[in-house]
Amino acid sequence: MTFIHIPKSWQIPEREVTSQSAYFNRRRFLKTLVGASIGASVMPMLGCQQAQFREKLKATLNQPSLEPLKTNPAFASLKRPITDELLAGRYNNFYEFGGGKSIWQNAQDLPTEDWKVEVGGLVNNPRTYDLDDLKKRFPLEERIYRFRCVEAWSMVLPWVGFPMKALMEEVEPTSEAKYVRFTSFYDPQITSGPRFHLGSLPWPYTEALRIEEMANELAFFAVGIYGHELPKQNGAPIRAVLPWKYGFKGAKSIVKVEFTNNQPATYWNTVVPSEYGFEANVNPNQPHPRWSQATERFISKGPDLSWEMRETFLYNGYGEYVANLYA
Ligand code: MTE
Repeated sequence: MTFIHIPKSWQIPEREVTSQSAYFNRRRFLKTLVGASIGASVMPMLGCQQAQFREKLKATLNQPSLEPLKTNPAFASLKRPITDELLAGRYNNFYEFGGGKSIWQNAQDLPTEDWKVEVGGLVNNPRTYDLDDLKKRFPLEERIYRFRCVEAWSMVLPWVGFPMKALMEEVEPTSEAKYVRFTSFYDPQITSGPRFHLGSLPWPYTEALRIEEMANELAFFAVGIYGHELPKQNGAPIRAVLPWKYGFKGAKSIVKVEFTNNQPATYWNTVVPSEYGFEANVNPNQPHPRWSQATERFISKGPDLSWEMRETFLYNGYGEYVANLYA
């Protein structure tokens, strides 16, 4: 019996980006066809398919508005432009729904109705929240953050949500609590992404922080992006956003937040500990074993996938907030 090998997307960052680029770069694609002199008859049809693709994608991004909301002035602008919404909505990592970047269609299977988040472990006030509870109890704000994936691509994204420390204040971790673990939604009937790997990988997806990291000003729970609720492909209805760390630390579609005494095992750190550390702070001086982290492919202008090379900043440029945590 032959097993189809589905490569892990961030083990082949360059190839993944290249194939996406070749597929989506409409101008180059059309030019090739014109060169083959079949352009005249086929072009309107391709244009039509691409238009349909965009319409479908846009429908997944068309989520209920979270406006009016205020942008936190400390995180209102960056020197880089905000990434085109269509790119943030179709260039994703969400392994539960597939091993490549184009998971946005599969991710529509995620059932987000009646979502509950269980918060417990070493806390004085364990609670299970539903989404409305969370949105009512913790005032929502917008924050524009840099986002840096360990695969060396980056974006600038306008998240909507609330600081993690607000939730901590309410549930009160006990003095024994040293870590916090986030668990993502998992149901093998639904999250059937890389099928051949589901048995051997440590599902559900989990991530964790030291509680001092969680209490940091930057640590954020996002329930929205671009002024509306999170699309499913971006981790609806609630995910972690930790802008000074590589993107894999930000667990999507969180169902459980648990305070613990010992450092919890986490997903990628369990799969390949030599490549995905527990701390995972963005660091241009510490190469990934298979690629440099000194620069990044900044994805911003749409609608077709393209990027510009930029230098990577220590702590992704957020040293003033977090450097003291690692002194
Ligand atoms: N969370 C879950 N549950 N499953 C995942 O596969 N991928 C991580 C992170 N959170 C992932 C996850 C990685 S590697 C990245 S870079 C970001 O989500 C991607 O977030 P985005 O798709 O919204 O850009």
